[in-house]
Amino acid sequence: MPMGSLNRVVYMSTAVGVLRADELDRIYLRAKSANTGASITGLMLFYEGVFLQVLEGPAAGVTSLMERIRRDRRHAGITVLESGPVTQRNFATSMQFIAARNLSVGEKQAFSGLRAAVSLRPNVSPSDHGLSAFLATFAAIRPA
Ligand SMILES: Cc1cc2nc3c(=O)[nH]c(=O)nc-3n(C[C@H](O)[C@H](O)[C@H](O)COP(=O)(O)O)c2cc1C
Repeated sequence: MPMGSLNRVVYMSTAVGVLRADELDRIYLRAKSANTGASITGLMLFYEGVFLQVLEGPAAGVTSLMERIRRDRRHAGITVLESGPVTQRNFATSMQFIAARNLSVGEKQAFSGLRAAVSLRPNVSPSDHGLSAFLATFAAIRPA
């Protein structure tokens, strides 16, 4: 894949109602196989009703996936934290999912802090939210 065509989108959103674990599994398993077919990798976190997702892949594929995700009524309040071309993937192998039970206490605190910062100041640059430092802790492969 030419490097110029690689895009990354990072967003946070809020689950609508209570998402049961099996519904969450369904979203993730479907996403993982669809994304693999589209060369889209990334990360999905879900904690206290809030999603954080990183999508990395060919620009056109990421854009059309983001359009589908925006139409999904299982979540709302999508706030894009980062969107644009990148030279390399941070999540190289697949769409990784990390459930709340596999987040450390520190990561949960960092997630809550990020969520609070984003809801207070959704328009500041991602670096001001500490986004890349937060995401860097997940770039290694971990159990779901
Ligand atoms: C938080 C969240 C993240 C999602 N992430 C993906 C994803 O990475 N890839 C994917 O194919 N679908 C993902 N979906 C599901 C899509 O929104 C959509 O339901 C799915 O792509 C099927 O779309 P279609 O019914 O228009 O074909 C996600 C849904 C939610 C609520």
